[in-house]
Amino acid sequence: MKDFEAIHQAAEIIKKGGLVAFPTETVYGLGADAFNPIAVARVFEVKQRPHFDPLIVHVSDLADLKKLVIKIPSHAKKLIERFWPGPLTIVLAKRDEVPDIVTSGLPTVAVRMPRHPMTLSLIELAGSPIVGPSANPFGYLSPTTAEHVRDQLGDQIDFVLDGGPCEVGVESTIISFSESKPRLLRPGGVPLEEIESIIGRVEIAPIEEGRPSAPGMLPRHYAPRTPILLDWDEKSFDSFGDMKIGLLAFREPKKSKKKFHSIEVLSKKGDFREAAANLFAAIRRLDTFNLDLILAETVPEAGLGRAINDRLRRARGALHP
Ligand code: TXA
Ligand code: MG
Repeated sequence: MKDFEAIHQAAEIIKKGGLVAFPTETVYGLGADAFNPIAVARVFEVKQRPHFDPLIVHVSDLADLKKLVIKIPSHAKKLIERFWPGPLTIVLAKRDEVPDIVTSGLPTVAVRMPRHPMTLSLIELAGSPIVGPSANPFGYLSPTTAEHVRDQLGDQIDFVLDGGPCEVGVESTIISFSESKPRLLRPGGVPLEEIESIIGRVEIAPIEEGRPSAPGMLPRHYAPRTPILLDWDEKSFDSFGDMKIGLLAFREPKKSKKKFHSIEVLSKKGDFREAAANLFAAIRRLDTFNLDLILAETVPEAGLGRAINDRLRRARGALHP
């Protein structure tokens, strides 16, 4: 099927209240018409996502944004001008028309304009903004290829729009304007430093166990089946016995390769962008080998490194080292 035929078909399905998985530059999303509460309810069902965890709404232009929010503060405008379309989500006061099921009853709505041409056309053709949580069962790793989506949700959704592998590979950065000062709710594809270079200091929302600032930011999230360990060194091997162990390395490892059953290198030259783009697919591959344990390396805590480390900590199931 040609791309434009696929986009047309997908748009028809959205208009009829169906579910379409769609590509973005970050991860694949599970789409439904944001103004159709019944379609949105099916998204929660298919993902087995708790209803307290609100969805991001995807728009293709600023007219769509105006259907969703009451006003756009000047700092938010600046970020939109600089980063949309792109991996930045902003949280703003919502209009009454936005169904409560989308926002889990919150007075705010999270919005972003994704940077994938097929999905921008899809939203435009569907004639309505579309909700889009990552297209994975709740708590598991986000999908970065159409195949990941088909493997996990294929028979439960109406269409998978294949736009190739995701370029960024980690989810969008979320900035909330629900209070007087802008706050970072989730590190992601746009580095915090770039945001601060435009609007000045951004508060980092405190991460509290059990009561995350973005409701979906639970300590165990983005998690494979295999346990992950982040704090380890050469001595740790004494206690591993004959466990089958995998390594998730940031760069090409220099020594002790033979201790591992399998090794995934995120970026041979130690490049953050390449590492982020490979992250979820690499963990998925390790998760197929029936390992007893995955040893992972964190990366320097700057730029995209912040998002990579955040996902690694959640994949391990605890936020603090
Ligand atoms: O890159 C992305 O953002 C991807 C692609 C598909 O666009 N989507 C994504 O959606 O990561 P999801 O549902 O997996 O994560 C959305 C996060 C959740 O942590 C949710 O709690 C938070 O956004 N969120 C949504 N609406 C919110 C609101 N009104 N206030 C605070 N947090 C909100
Ligand atoms: Mg998700």
